[in-house]
Amino acid sequence: MVKISLKILKKQAQKDINLARDLKELNEIFKKYLGKRDGELTRILRSLEKLPKQKRVKIGREANELKDFLKIKFDQKAEEIKEKIKKETEEREWIDITVPGKKPLLGHLHPLTLVKRKVEEIFQSMGFSVVEGPEIETEWYNFDALNIPKDHPARDMWDTFYLKNGLLRTHTTPVDVRYMEKNQPPLRIITIGRCFRHEATDASHESNFYQLDGLMVGKDISVANFKTVIEEFFKRFFNRDSNPPTALPSPSGAQRAPIEIRMRPSYFPFVEPGFEVDITCFICGGKGCSACSKTGWMEMMGAGMVHPAVFKNSGLIPPSSRGGGWQGFAFGMGMDRLAMMKYKINDIRLFYSGDLRFLTQF
Ligand code: FA5
Repeated sequence: MVKISLKILKKQAQKDINLARDLKELNEIFKKYLGKRDGELTRILRSLEKLPKQKRVKIGREANELKDFLKIKFDQKAEEIKEKIKKETEEREWIDITVPGKKPLLGHLHPLTLVKRKVEEIFQSMGFSVVEGPEIETEWYNFDALNIPKDHPARDMWDTFYLKNGLLRTHTTPVDVRYMEKNQPPLRIITIGRCFRHEATDASHESNFYQLDGLMVGKDISVANFKTVIEEFFKRFFNRDSNPPTALPSPSGAQRAPIEIRMRPSYFPFVEPGFEVDITCFICGGKGCSACSKTGWMEMMGAGMVHPAVFKNSGLIPPSSRGGGWQGFAFGMGMDRLAMMKYKINDIRLFYSGDLRFLTQF
């Protein structure tokens, strides 16, 4: 009877062991057959004492052999399962250390910042200091001090955003007055900053844009000085000659067209005489495009000789017909337009779009 059950037990146990999927299941099977208390084989071994001696010895040997056999089977199966787990884990967690790493995205400078830095570098090398002024201005600095009284029609030239206690500056020229109030000539400064105008936007106009204002004051500063400074600036900024009779070959041998600069008479209440400066539109090469309103020229700045009233409002002695007093030039240039020309960008609004496809090109 017991002999038969040992055979069946062996078969059954082997089958169970083979089917075990993990160590937990295997442990349960171990308990089922070889558990100290209720293991089926344990129970048989325990019941041997009730058998007559002859039988007991024989079956006892067989049962112990089965016990040893099963123990080996359990150990083998446990090894097999452990090996399988190890393999699976290795496959799951395998890291190919030879795969090149993902490059972290590096931030970079905005094109307007690049242009700002370049402009500052060029003017500093010509002896200009870089100064700053507030974006929220008073009517006095934005208009009155610049010879634009309240009822003056020229105020309409700038569509202004008014605040409860002031306004958003419409240009950077107020910084010139602030500087002259505190500093005695001779002086040479530039200021770069944000300006705001309540106007419809198009390819070359934004309601928020950047201006670069320059001011040079001394005993006998003239329009000739302005022309020289600004030509030198353009030459260096665009890395080209301005207005030479023929295009000069660049060191690389490639021909770079010279920049054409055009000065037109214009009116600004804070300068006399006043003019505007255009350069050939780089985007279309002067043929006419949407950025230059089909004119072939890009208006870059307003400029002129500082008006005597502005000197007076800043606490400086203006030039007089008898000689003496200070005189100088001022200009206000669109920084975004400089960037448009430099990088051949045909729409100013791209600078403020936040579109990474555009920005990551710089
Ligand atoms: C002025 O703002 C004067 N303050 C410039 C000046 C300074 C004249 C000192 C004389 C002496 P104007 O409004 O023309 O001028 O603007 C100067 C330049 O700023 C323009 O030539 C243009 O390049 C740029 N600009 C003006 N409005 C915008 C705009 N909405 N978007 C982008 N650029 C603009």
